[in-house]
Amino acid sequence: MSAALIDHVVQRSDVVKRAARIGAEIRNIKLSDDLPDQTIAAINRLLLEHKVIFFRDQGHLDDSEQERFALRLGTLVSLPTLGASKGTMSILEIDSARGGIRADTWHIDVAYVDAYPKILVLRGVVIPPVGGDTVWSNTAAAYLDLPPPLQRLANELWAVHSNTLDSGIFARPSEANKKLYDEILAGTSFETEHPVVRVHPETGERTLVLGCYVKRFVDVPKYDGQRLFDLFESHITAPENTVRWTWKQGDVVIWDNRATMHYAAKDYGDQHRVVRRAAIDGEVPVSVDGRCSIARVKVTKQPPANVA
Ligand SMILES: [Fe+2]
Repeated sequence: MSAALIDHVVQRSDVVKRAARIGAEIRNIKLSDDLPDQTIAAINRLLLEHKVIFFRDQGHLDDSEQERFALRLGTLVSLPTLGASKGTMSILEIDSARGGIRADTWHIDVAYVDAYPKILVLRGVVIPPVGGDTVWSNTAAAYLDLPPPLQRLANELWAVHSNTLDSGIFARPSEANKKLYDEILAGTSFETEHPVVRVHPETGERTLVLGCYVKRFVDVPKYDGQRLFDLFESHITAPENTVRWTWKQGDVVIWDNRATMHYAAKDYGDQHRVVRRAAIDGEVPVSVDGRCSIARVKVTKQPPANVA
């Protein structure tokens, strides 16, 4: 799509950057499934450019309308460890009263499978008066921040990602999350080898693929792996590469899960917080030398109703 068409469909003045390297608020669009094709194309283009885009005042959406809008962006998938989740077919409810799922660590959603979702559409349903912000980082910018020798090292590294609670040597799951975590995430065990650097299938950018699901690096001992993990994560989580969003009820946030990581701050005490998420099916990551991620293990503890 040309820049002129974006100007025609979405006015430049309606795109308000929220940080230099990532994030833009898009104004004066009412999200729905009957938006014209060129508006959906503009939303996709803005998403690729800004990595995460924010929409206020979308309180007209319910679960099914959120789902129908999300369908315009691709094929919907459920969390692979779940069948149909609460609400409509593929909307995942994340409710603080039920413990939440391990969102207060830096992560890529569902990175423990090979073709993890490419886009997430998250809607604020119950938002606490204070706290509960989400922070996203630009993993393409983080890669560009690395000095060339570290880029070359990252290009060659692969990491094993897993959803099992005891597997992530770099993760810090809380006891409070354990029951829900077991219920939602660990019904089926997944283990996938991803390149630490993937080539974005639409932009060609190189992005870092790490986060809390990383269990270890391939062919790197744990001691060295922990230091490498901290080194690369420090670039991902550098404030300059992030944007922080303070939610209001009715907000919709859409992010490119291939070019970002995110962190949901648990700083709202006992206040209630509910967000609902639709996930769009993604591609198997490809490394800089053209190799695809590999799903190594899938141990089914209970029959999965719908495996992505
Ligand atoms: Fe998440």
